[in-house]
Amino acid sequence: MNANDIAPQGAPLQRIALRGDLLDFTSAPEWGAVDSKAVRFREDHWLLIENGRIAGAQPGDQLPDDSWTQRDHRGRLILPGFIDTHVHSPQLDVIASHGTALLDWLDTYTFPAERRYADVLEAQAGAARFLDALLAHGTTSAVVFPTVHKVSADTLFAAAHERGMRLVAGKVLMDRHAPDGLRDEAPDRGARDCVDLIDRWHGKGRLAYAVTVRFAPTSTPEQLAMAGQLCTAYPGVYMQTHLAENRDEVAWVHRLFPEARSYLDVYDRAGLLNARGVFAHGIWLDDEDRAALRDACAQIAHSPSSNLFLGSGLFGWRAAEDAGVRVSVATDVGGGTSLSMQRTLADAYKVQALAGERLTAWKALHAATLGAAAALGLGDEIGSLSTGCVADLCIWDWARGPVAERRFEVARSLHERVFAWMTLSDERNLVATLVEGNVRYPHGRD
Ligand code: GUN
Ligand code: ZN
Repeated sequence: MNANDIAPQGAPLQRIALRGDLLDFTSAPEWGAVDSKAVRFREDHWLLIENGRIAGAQPGDQLPDDSWTQRDHRGRLILPGFIDTHVHSPQLDVIASHGTALLDWLDTYTFPAERRYADVLEAQAGAARFLDALLAHGTTSAVVFPTVHKVSADTLFAAAHERGMRLVAGKVLMDRHAPDGLRDEAPDRGARDCVDLIDRWHGKGRLAYAVTVRFAPTSTPEQLAMAGQLCTAYPGVYMQTHLAENRDEVAWVHRLFPEARSYLDVYDRAGLLNARGVFAHGIWLDDEDRAALRDACAQIAHSPSSNLFLGSGLFGWRAAEDAGVRVSVATDVGGGTSLSMQRTLADAYKVQALAGERLTAWKALHAATLGAAAALGLGDEIGSLSTGCVADLCIWDWARGPVAERRFEVARSLHERVFAWMTLSDERNLVATLVEGNVRYPHGRD
């Protein structure tokens, strides 16, 4: 080691070189194009990681010097860690629950499960189980709903901080149309809890707070206004909610808020439509709504697995894209049936196919990496393998099992190969997950 190998704080540099096939994006791919300049594929390269950040890449035959710890994953795929822009931490307990559409599903399965998170030990164990499950599916960053209980957000932030993960979350706000034990009781209690959580967690390490309105029906107009005031008072925080997911839900919102032009307009009037807004679903929108989302630079977290499972509807990705709306992809577990982003993207392809549109692997994978990062304003930090980004990434087997292996063998083009990977792979293909250059999955392995 020489003097240059000392990090500014005086600690020795941690240098890791990973060898594999590097795939990421440098811009947004065009709709429908299987050949795209936005794709950066560097077959058999070393990815250099210095103190948790990406320091560069070089061809596989140029061996890094011995100041680098070399890990040879030749013949494997290295991707940025996935970003799941809408997922519920307590809902692992209700994933794959039979027989209901959204509003009955909430009452029958989801609300009862979320009540358990009032208890600190339940919340703590649930947060750890949830984040470890994300990492075991190749997801390194997420925008997360815990529950209405302050302790559910506290324990989730603490567990994410321990793991070094980039996480956006906030205590859920609900003050009506929810069962006992799941409502913010005193009028200013929800606001005080949010302010305290923002003060303690927003900007701590890699954490960010999101004002989290569950959805319009479970907040009074007063609570919606309070949430809007929080967004104004703390301009750096995010906002997350559900929007126009299910037709019965949309009709209910119209009855509850007759003065609003549309479901989205309820949020807009409360000051909740802004560039840091993450709106899950957005299936039942019109042109005016899409224009408003575009003008606000807000994003839709498209959740195809959930939309199919709950029978909510088919999201018009192309219409959203043509209108200039940012679209990311999300599992929405427990409405969605898997934390795997590949399975979710495979569902997204099928949803678009039903509308006669053909989603490319580029468009899909971009939405789950750099596209999501950019929509969250984090494109310089996560979602790509560019120099300077944090080394949040995953190493994947290209194919597992005879069917995928054969398909991989006969694939003729890069798109064919990557599309088959996206469609046939899942968490069983995952070899390792790194967060800030540290191996976080599998456990206990360097
Ligand atoms: N709308 C309000 N709450 C929820 C939820 O927990 N999941 C889904 N999919 N939609 C919702
Ligand atoms: Zn949801």
